[in-house]
Amino acid sequence: MIMEVIDSVREMQKRCDELHCAGRRIGLVPTMGYLHEGHLSLVRLIRGKVGEDGVVIVSIFVNPTQFGPGEDFEVYPRDFERDRRLCLREGVDLIFHPSAAEMYVPGATVYVSEDRLSRGLCGRSRPGHFRGVLTVVAKLFNIIRPDVAVFGRKDAQQLRLIERMVTDLNYPIEIVAAPIVRESDGLAMSSRNTYLSEHQRRQALCLNRALQAAEEAFAGGERDPVRLKATMASITADVPEVEVEYIEIVDWETLERLSSPIERKALAAMAARVGGTRLIDNTLLDPTAK
Ligand code: PAF
Repeated sequence: MIMEVIDSVREMQKRCDELHCAGRRIGLVPTMGYLHEGHLSLVRLIRGKVGEDGVVIVSIFVNPTQFGPGEDFEVYPRDFERDRRLCLREGVDLIFHPSAAEMYVPGATVYVSEDRLSRGLCGRSRPGHFRGVLTVVAKLFNIIRPDVAVFGRKDAQQLRLIERMVTDLNYPIEIVAAPIVRESDGLAMSSRNTYLSEHQRRQALCLNRALQAAEEAFAGGERDPVRLKATMASITADVPEVEVEYIEIVDWETLERLSSPIERKALAAMAARVGGTRLIDNTLLDPTAK
């Protein structure tokens, strides 16, 4: 199959109808472009899910509704030609690359919002962010009707919200959670890492170090979320230029802050600003894991 690029919603719906009628399994990798190794790992994962007879679709759309006022929508890195070449090399079958005008009809008043899992963590400092994410993902699901879609664990709250949306709104779509992909020095891959100077990049490594310290303490039997958070905070405190927004230990199912000992799957999550760049990272703490 020659890689196609479609930028119109109507044409995309028509093409997906044809693919469904032909019995092809469709796998979707939703992205905002400026692809990196983390995205490419999602492409490989979804290819494994749909097989060689299936169709791998990558959507590339910098979604304006998930950026708040004063956030980096205008400067978010974009390079469609580079993304196109990377997709071609990875064997992607189709890129959906709509404009904002194509995705959002003027006067739209219907959105998808969630009112529990989206409250804490990043939702606290980014009001409206997850409404924008859920709305655009729902639109992509409705346009493409994929059999399976993949989301990275780095955006853990986003992943949980999408899992919740699929359950609550009855989307017949399998959601695959992909592992966090890290640079060789441990920094979680993100398109926003391009904003960091070399010095800031080195400072940013304290996020991963803090999470590793929590993992080690947890592996050594520490179950107290307050002490685990203190362990993480002591590491970021050594790097004063890193401005921590939150360090949290939350229940994986509800994303509610834990104050009693961890008894089931929990998430250690953090967000911090390094220079002007907001970075997030996390790790799972699973007391039932062997
Ligand atoms: O994770 C992202 O890149 C975006 O939030 C997503 C899921 C593509 C929605 O715009």
